[in-house]
Amino acid sequence: MFKKVAGTKDILPDQISAWQKIEDAGEKIFTSYNYQEIRPPLIEESALFNRSLGEATEIVQKQMFLIKSGTDEYALRPEATASIVRAYIENSLDKQSRLCKFYYTGPMFRMERPQKGRLRQFHHLGCEVIGAKDPGIDIEIITLADTLLKAFSIDGYITRLNSLGCLNDKKKLIDILKIGLKDRIVDLCEDCKLRFQRNILRILDCKNEACQQIVHGLGIKDSYLCQDCKDHFFQVRAGLDELSVPYELSPYLVRGLDYYTRTVFEFTHDELGPQQNALGAGGRYDTLISSLGGPDTGAIGFAFGMERLLLVSKLLAKTQETGTLVYIISLGEAAKKASLKILYMLRNKGIAADTEYEGKSLKAALRKADDLKARFVVIIGDNELQKNVVMLKDMSAGTQKEVLLEKLIEEIKF
Ligand code: HAM
Repeated sequence: MFKKVAGTKDILPDQISAWQKIEDAGEKIFTSYNYQEIRPPLIEESALFNRSLGEATEIVQKQMFLIKSGTDEYALRPEATASIVRAYIENSLDKQSRLCKFYYTGPMFRMERPQKGRLRQFHHLGCEVIGAKDPGIDIEIITLADTLLKAFSIDGYITRLNSLGCLNDKKKLIDILKIGLKDRIVDLCEDCKLRFQRNILRILDCKNEACQQIVHGLGIKDSYLCQDCKDHFFQVRAGLDELSVPYELSPYLVRGLDYYTRTVFEFTHDELGPQQNALGAGGRYDTLISSLGGPDTGAIGFAFGMERLLLVSKLLAKTQETGTLVYIISLGEAAKKASLKILYMLRNKGIAADTEYEGKSLKAALRKADDLKARFVVIIGDNELQKNVVMLKDMSAGTQKEVLLEKLIEEIKF
């Protein structure tokens, strides 16, 4: 028997309603913020991700699903930001509107070691705003994420906020770390020893306590930020304060992708456990668009992991509402033929309807209607057929009555 690939999940019909609630709430809120949906492909040239996320990042080093075809190499997208920037440049979307606001949902792929909240195929719900460096957009995006989390019935999350500064500031921060840590390398964890060579910034958000103590001992604070970046960050914080959007300053938050500059943020939730505690994350990437051949313009975005949202959302716990389904049970061959006509008549009127196909007894068919949470059951046998009526059972009221066939639609009121 075949089994699903490790780190993938079947989203079964009984889970779909929670997914749809999240997608529907997302669509409504993104639309009210004037964002438009975009659907880039699931595969891209692998070089797009190497360039955008950074050659030294964990995703590019270890986690890309690569597909070779002759001399070409493609990757299943590990995230969508790079694809959306590629689409923005390739389709000259900046010529239509200087400022573009996109949202998206869909599967992402990373070759990770599977565990709770960490999959190889997972789903993002995210957005990107391309075309402005204004701190007002940072405020908008963080407020938007906060609004979404509330709409998803999630509480108890923390919004962590930091600024990495511009490219020059990031270089300054790297130098501070190189100098400050060069005599402490032996005391760092094995991962951080490698990070010191390859991706030193990631030492800042290492979860190992010894590494954290060493890093905190350097007393870096915001010493690496230039005045412009300090001002930008001040305005972002002031705007969030003004709107009463809560956040915690998190001076060691750096994020695992190279493209970030200035504002970075993360939404963490304790119920996800200590290792994979981020519901979502994002930040500015003001140099990515020009580095991929586009105009010199700013951008910012975030993505939530849908599976992680569902792990902590109360949407799943909420009782399922009674359905709106009409379930038809026919007794005998002639009634069966007539019932098919009724079935299609209801469906053509936009009323959700289904019938019993498995030859069940009346009792078993009624049980099935109950399982399906049908709102009404229509029973039709030879007697009813002769009188041109059906027996209509109102499942929530627990009543039943004979109804003329031509009055059936009138009687079915949801
Ligand atoms: P990311 O932090 O790599 O950022 O992913 C965003 C979120 O996706 C994470 O916070 C987490 O909830 C979820 N996630 C990541 N990896 C997995 C996994 N293996 N299994 C389950 N969930 C996972 C990005 O991808 C950026 N593109 C976000 C962004 C958009 N930045 C700017 N714009």
